Amino acid sequence: MAGRMASRTAVVTGAGSGIGAAIARGLAAEGANVVLADLNDQAVQAVADGITADGGAALAMHVDVTSRAQVQAAVAATVERFGRLDVWFNNAGMNAPMPFLEITEENFERIMRINAIGVLIGIQEAAKRFLEQGGGGKIVNTASIAGRTGFPSFAPYSASKAAVISLTQAAARDLAQHGITVNGFAPGVVATPLWKQLDADLAAMGAADSGFDSMAADILLGRPAQPEDIVPTALFLACSDSDYITGQIVAIEGGMILV
Ligand SMILES: NC(=O)c1ccc[n+]([C@@H]2O[C@H](COP(=O)([O-])OP(=O)(O)OC[C@H]3O[C@@H](n4cnc5c(N)ncnc54)[C@H](O)[C@@H]3O)[C@@H](O)[C@H]2O)c1
Repeated sequence: MAGRMASRTAVVTGAGSGIGAAIARGLAAEGANVVLADLNDQAVQAVADGITADGGAALAMHVDVTSRAQVQAAVAATVERFGRLDVWFNNAGMNAPMPFLEITEENFERIMRINAIGVLIGIQEAAKRFLEQGGGGKIVNTASIAGRTGFPSFAPYSASKAAVISLTQAAARDLAQHGITVNGFAPGVVATPLWKQLDADLAAMGAADSGFDSMAADILLGRPAQPEDIVPTALFLACSDSDYITGQIVAIEGGMILV
């Protein structure tokens, strides 16, 4: 398939839903071979099947991003199926809100393990493969506006996304010598299944003022994002148009926190 991602192979974690599914579809529509990695086997297979039905090249894989062995297996399967790896999206993530004074070590560790350690492992394992290929390659991380400012109802999530921003900068500094770029984007409020559980949890906490509707009400452009609003920037960061950009986080938040 022709396009900006022609003959490139990209892995997207968390591709079974929301933003990751939209990115995988967008990459495939631009000609990429896409490996869709997710915990949810049924969901990720359905997204991959949709891409294949549209004439794209897709492989669905069960991957828990907190397992280095499973991430390594995803790299190996990608290379076996498509011959090489060009782009790695660390997109899988979750939230589990708690009132600030009640946050437990367990809550903090769970969120950090998936959202931050998962990104560290993804960066490392993708970069190792890029080095085996002689350098080059792109890594794109899903941060959040919550990494730019702390939200009291989900402080561990904010901390984990600040970690994603720091990891992006540190990895960019370390990997530039090998021609590898590392960037990220920070969505604001995106209409995805993540918010269903989050809104229910926030309502149960009595913190509806940080729910989807109230946060979306403050967006300058007058509406929350749809997953498709994220795709053009994701594509830009994955293709050669962004070759001279590294260590950056692009905010995609419709005018919200403006930092
Ligand atoms: N929706 C928003 O408003 C918003 C805003 C800012 C950032 N984000 C971030 O965007 C990313 C995608 O979120 P979304 O809104 O599309 O959520 P989503 O819940 O729709 O999709 C997340 C996907 O990640 C998968 N996943 C979760 N834990 C995993 C793990 N350990 N290993 C592999 N896969 C795992 C889930 O199965 C799911 O398919 C997340 O990193 C999230 O924090 C979302």
